[in-house]
Amino acid sequence: MSSKKRKAPDELDEYGCVSQACSASQPSTKAVEVAIPSGDQLQGVAASDAHFRYLYDEELDFKKLAEKDVDFAAVLQEHGQLDFTDPKAVMQLTKTLLSLDFNLKLELPDDRLCPPVPNRHNYIRWLKELMDTSSYEPPGRPICGLDIGTGASCIYPLLGTTQRPSWSFVATDIDKKSLQYARKNVVMNDLEDRILLLERQPEDPLIPLRDRDSKKVTRIDFTMMNPPFYESKDEMLYSAQSKARPPHSACTGAPVEMVCDGGEVAHVSRMLKESLVLKEEVQWYTSMLGKATSVETLVGKLKANGIDNYAITEFIQGNKTRRWALGWSFEALRPAEHVARLKTSSWKKVSPPVLMIEVLNMPSGKALESIIARIEEVMGSLELMSWSWDAKGTRGTGRTRENVWSRVWRRKKMREQATGSFVPTSTPSNECRLGFDVVVERGISTTTVVVNWREGHDAVMFESFAGFLQGKMKDLG
Ligand SMILES: C[S@@+](CC[C@H](N)C(=O)[O-])C[C@H]1O[C@@H](n2cnc3c(N)ncnc32)[C@H](O)[C@@H]1O
Repeated sequence: MSSKKRKAPDELDEYGCVSQACSASQPSTKAVEVAIPSGDQLQGVAASDAHFRYLYDEELDFKKLAEKDVDFAAVLQEHGQLDFTDPKAVMQLTKTLLSLDFNLKLELPDDRLCPPVPNRHNYIRWLKELMDTSSYEPPGRPICGLDIGTGASCIYPLLGTTQRPSWSFVATDIDKKSLQYARKNVVMNDLEDRILLLERQPEDPLIPLRDRDSKKVTRIDFTMMNPPFYESKDEMLYSAQSKARPPHSACTGAPVEMVCDGGEVAHVSRMLKESLVLKEEVQWYTSMLGKATSVETLVGKLKANGIDNYAITEFIQGNKTRRWALGWSFEALRPAEHVARLKTSSWKKVSPPVLMIEVLNMPSGKALESIIARIEEVMGSLELMSWSWDAKGTRGTGRTRENVWSRVWRRKKMREQATGSFVPTSTPSNECRLGFDVVVERGISTTTVVVNWREGHDAVMFESFAGFLQGKMKDLG
């Protein structure tokens, strides 16, 4: 491979990584209790999400960080520069951000990966939206995540439990030293009741639901993983050299963390294979990816296995560092458009089907009441399984087992009424084939009505419904 082509994912650019080893107490074997959130906690979800939503959208201001943290000031160079090739400086940045933004403490060895906080936060932020939008329940439902390969920092469970009071985690690793530090970090932050650490063997299944650990792990709602992305030790060392980083340090990570046969595609393919057996036992299977080509390859594998409900996102940190995340589900509940699909046209081919369709766009001057009255009238005329309107949120949710707006359905209905006979359809009577939201959004200059696809596997049925509603609203525009 030529040196030019050898572009490896660059942890340091986004801003660095550290690792270490440890030998603390044994990983806990206590089962994680999932807490039921109270009303106050649900309100807390909204408040804490608002605090975390825009963190790190702006570039980090090192001078400001130094004003707030003397330990960070001590590693900052003249003119407010940070030396990203210095593992100590990179490690301190991670500690400082975790402390200032999340009130978390962290201890890491020098020879294990040091996680860049903004990138890791991006993944948690996306997961929150993925889980929230692919559910009819309000945000804050009890959720247990599985972090496969949690590393010495145990960063994802620390960030996830801090932001969501009703989340708990099972965190696995095959590296004893990483697990020892992970344990320390869980204890230091008083999170033993919400994070269960499990030591696994390299040949064990990645998801511990059907093996010796299945008694301790009774439920997993999502999996997450930042897989080792190098295919060989040589590739990893070459990458470290080209970035003037010390090999096997906090900035490069140890080979056990960074290298696996076949790289990230092989690791995620392992998870896919397990998911094809576990199916709906887990709502979302997800992984972070360091290479855009891996996303394409893996989406191809999802499609080849008939998986139509999946989500892709991109994490951009700093000027040039990009990461991606891919998730898939066997359930019918679908995430929001902005969570599952990338906007840029180059991603069109690999993106999942459209999840949101605009059915009306008109100047804001016109009365909102007439739009809402029309929606209510149209929905009331359909034989849906359910329809409910939230006046405050100006949105309604409907579910249907059949294409009840179509001519074919209406003719069938008329025949039934005329003959008094019932013609059964192929859909079992209690099965929802399409769930949708109709949302009225009033902007400063325009008011729009959009339909979101919430449930089902039939993209044609969703598009047909949106087309029907568009026709019914046409004269308002
Ligand atoms: C790139 S590191 C990610 C560490 C941490 N999650 C982060 O994002 O900073 C990959 C981790 O996966 C672990 N790992 C590798 N193979 C594994 C397996 N089969 N099961 C569980 N963990 C594994 C490694 O030991 C390492 O800690």
